Amino acid sequence: MVDFSTTYLGIPLKNPLVVAASSLSSRVDSVKQAEEAGAGALVIRSLFEEQIQFDALRMENALNVAGDGFAEAQSYFPKVEHGGPKEHLMWVEKTRKAVKMPVFASLNAVSPGAWTNYARQLVDTGVDGLEVNFYAVATDPTRPGSDLERALFDVVESVRAEVKVPFAVKLSPFYTSIVNIVSEIEKRGANGVVLFNRFLQPNIDPDTESLYSQMTYSQPDEIKAPLRWIAILYGRTKLDLALSTGVHSGKDAIKGLLAGATVVQMAATLLKNGPHYLSTMLIQMQGWMEEHSYSRVSEFRGNVSQKNCDDPFAFERAQYVRLLLDQK
Ligand SMILES: Cc1cc2nc3c(=O)[nH]c(=O)nc-3n(C[C@H](O)[C@H](O)[C@H](O)COP(=O)(O)O)c2cc1C
Repeated sequence: MVDFSTTYLGIPLKNPLVVAASSLSSRVDSVKQAEEAGAGALVIRSLFEEQIQFDALRMENALNVAGDGFAEAQSYFPKVEHGGPKEHLMWVEKTRKAVKMPVFASLNAVSPGAWTNYARQLVDTGVDGLEVNFYAVATDPTRPGSDLERALFDVVESVRAEVKVPFAVKLSPFYTSIVNIVSEIEKRGANGVVLFNRFLQPNIDPDTESLYSQMTYSQPDEIKAPLRWIAILYGRTKLDLALSTGVHSGKDAIKGLLAGATVVQMAATLLKNGPHYLSTMLIQMQGWMEEHSYSRVSEFRGNVSQKNCDDPFAFERAQYVRLLLDQK
């Protein structure tokens, strides 16, 4: 029998499989099914800054541009009239009460502001911790990247000042110096970092010369970007590392742990296969651990991180030169 137990953000989990923030948490029966299938923890979908600021007009415009071709796209960008902050807080409280596993609430942020006191209101629902999902599409040519990074740090500081519970910061992959960002977040009191969020990207239909938005699920190959950064960060930060994007099977979860992830998060695969798929993933992980004679996750976590692997420079190699030379 293998021991999957893990501590994430100081909270004991029975295993490192975390249900990522997504529409899966929109239904109590799905959340209960995830718990029954063995989920280690669950992140409830985000309370969006726009919801809090009642920026209904901009939100409505965004939704009109996004279109409504895919039901779950709507749940990622919930309509203001259907999802004000009060309704969201009630929902979080109901979800918290429905299950015993650790539950995290998620707060989306694009700028610092008084609205971050919603972090405390989310905590008052009884959740075990928070995830701060920070992302904005930067379009102002006068605003440098350093300014946006400062906004992220200010949000982290204000959330830390607001709550005592542990929280992780969920980052986009679009930073020039990820290791520096993580180190700055750590200095400001966060407990973990989630790498990476994956966003809805609008597309263009050349036939109708118009914009459309179709939510496409991640592919397993997309794990490579978070895998690289988790592997580089392992041993360089005290923050817990959560891998998000591209975990579709038990083997993918193992890859994340080998890179150094404390936990792995799944959205796409659970939305496609249903929450019960978590039990299949746990069986696959157990099979791999037995085959490799491991009885605990801590025995192999970080074994293929940059600091522990045979070829540390492989994680820093970004160009194809070596591959091209090897092929000659
Ligand atoms: C339908 C849907 C809704 C999502 N809603 C949220 C959300 O509310 N907050 C958030 O931080 N991430 C949200 N995400 C992103 C996921 O948590 C996850 O980071 C991303 O899908 C990549 O993981 P995956 O490859 O397992 O899907 C959502 C993803 C999907 C597919």
